[in-house]
Amino acid sequence: MITTDIERAARAIWQGGLVAIPTETVYGLAADATNPDAVRRIYEIKGRPADHPLIVHLADSTEFATYAEHPSPAATRLAAVAWPGPLTLIVGRPASITPVATGDRDSVGLRVPANPIARRVIEIAGVPVAAPSANRFGQVSPTTAEHVLEDLGDVLDPERDLVLDGGPSLIGVESTIVDCTVDPPELLRTGGVSREELTVLLDGVADVAAATGPARASGMLPSHYAPRCEVRCVDTADDAAALVAGTPGSEILDLSTDVVAYAARLYDELRSADRRGVRTLIAVLPPPEGLGHAVRDRLTKAAAPRPQS
Ligand code: TXA
Ligand code: MG
Repeated sequence: MITTDIERAARAIWQGGLVAIPTETVYGLAADATNPDAVRRIYEIKGRPADHPLIVHLADSTEFATYAEHPSPAATRLAAVAWPGPLTLIVGRPASITPVATGDRDSVGLRVPANPIARRVIEIAGVPVAAPSANRFGQVSPTTAEHVLEDLGDVLDPERDLVLDGGPSLIGVESTIVDCTVDPPELLRTGGVSREELTVLLDGVADVAAATGPARASGMLPSHYAPRCEVRCVDTADDAAALVAGTPGSEILDLSTDVVAYAARLYDELRSADRRGVRTLIAVLPPPEGLGHAVRDRLTKAAAPRPQS
């Protein structure tokens, strides 16, 4: 099911199949966002609740005008200066995008990925593509084609679906999500674009507020992005050393001196800990700046109490 043939992948999307595509953040499970049957299969395959909206990916920033209904000045500004890139903007949903992709909401999350393979496959397919991270719901996102096969290899249909291999995702954590349907815009998920960068990109057009109200993004649920092993977060290498000594079956994860590498390797490290049968992963949190916000968020969620299953 793995291919590097971009045209074949585009054809599969156009014919209503599912294609795992590489992006700079994580791999996405893509379907034609104008085809309700194709999009419905994303939910089935991931085991994702039907009311959790997907992100719709576009080939080029110029398509913002076509697919954003009533965009606010902040949304228009961010689409112009931050795309292509790891930033998702929530705007009004146009009629052309099936409500199946947005959990019946009249808003839609739009993003133009920076990965050139992703943009090319969307461009050739000629349709916007709905794509959540290509993992089972609630699990760690995939950052390689092999991760996708580990998670979804037995549920994808070899007759219609594909995994487009574009190598490891460069950033390694999901996009930042900004809800631009409210004023001021709200930060729903920290990710590849840092809070500090958002302020610079907005250049005074608006201030971004912290999210309020009930969780609107599945990444906002307290327990998400979780491996099978227990995760415990600490602030310093000394704390980690003390804890590992008293915790049987534990290991330390500490890339806190290089936050870019931490983000890029985070999900592979969590998966690898599971493969090796680690019982408790003791993760040293990076400083809360730049990409560090996103790494801290994902680690804290991986460490949160999990629903019984
Ligand atoms: O980096 C990423 O964002 C990756 C790549 C593939 O682009 N995608 C990703 O998708 O992380 P997913 O489905 O795992 O997370 C998308 C998040 C969800 O938490 C969803 O609730 C939120 O985006 N979202 C999408 N549309 C929304 C909307 N209209 N209103 C509120 N939240 C929305
Ligand atoms: Mg996800």
